[in-house]
Amino acid sequence: MESTAIAHANIALVKYWGKRDYRLNLPAVGSISMSLQELYTKTHILFDSNLDKDHLIIGHEAAAENQRVRVSKFLDLVRSISGIGYFAMVKTENNFPTGAGLASSASGFAALAVAACAALNLNLSGKELSILARQGSGSAARSIFGGFVEMKKGIEPDGSDCFAEKIAEANQWDLHMLIAITSEKEKSVGSTEGMKISEKTSPYYQNWIASSDEDIRACREAILKKDFSLLSEVAERSCLKMHALAMSSQPALIYWNDITLKLIHLIRGMRKNGIPVFFTIDAGPQVKAVCEADYVEHVRKNIVEIESVKKVIHTTIGQDARVI
Ligand code: PMV
Repeated sequence: MESTAIAHANIALVKYWGKRDYRLNLPAVGSISMSLQELYTKTHILFDSNLDKDHLIIGHEAAAENQRVRVSKFLDLVRSISGIGYFAMVKTENNFPTGAGLASSASGFAALAVAACAALNLNLSGKELSILARQGSGSAARSIFGGFVEMKKGIEPDGSDCFAEKIAEANQWDLHMLIAITSEKEKSVGSTEGMKISEKTSPYYQNWIASSDEDIRACREAILKKDFSLLSEVAERSCLKMHALAMSSQPALIYWNDITLKLIHLIRGMRKNGIPVFFTIDAGPQVKAVCEADYVEHVRKNIVEIESVKKVIHTTIGQDARVI
């Protein structure tokens, strides 16, 4: 009973921040993301009747106990669906830095969901896999699919209408992303903890919720019409609103560093000079610049001119999570 799966990371163009239910990981707002071809998690799982607990190896090392427990709780869900109680040996690797705002939990839980279900011969639909992956990490629900993906916030208390769906295939639009790594340190406050703080303390939280449906609508329209200027507007607005929530929380959550801010100004400056490019930033200091194929070299050249940028990862749009 074993299987190996790959799932790609994704970056939200319309962000989610806040949950309506923490146990089931139900987001307070919908979100829209693009899948990232060059960033993925590969996971092998073996269910074995001889094991006395679940094991988790990340890279080539045993994972920290809290990570192992998080994975084990997730596998309990799969075990309860399948009726097979065996523990598992999970070996997983990311081809990108973990825990630095590059969404390793999204590709990680999506790959785990696909691998575990395949190993136990569970034939779940894309929607069911997305609901399962969501319970590992909110953004993992989106990593089940490639291309452009929308996560529904849903209204049902049991989360049965809270899953991701593909809006458009990867070949809909040849968008490229340049990820500028500004720091390789793990972030100090994880997303779930950060969301709880913002919900309780940010004076902007209710407005964030109230303005989210319009961002989703505009982003969907921008993707379907390939309207770059509309996509730039909505993606930067959503990103800055999310960070304004984080920054206005008590204690304040400042995920940016000085280089993050330099890159924001650089990208806005390029756009002012006629280069179609926009930025987005998750709960970390890395800046992701998005542009069409013709502008990749120009944008990259400008980004690497900022000395302290440690590395730039270039990616196109990724494919569905899959068994390999
Ligand atoms: O996947 P989670 O629950 O850790 O939250 C991710 C939140 C952001 O990456 C900041 C935004 C998003 O929509 O991906």
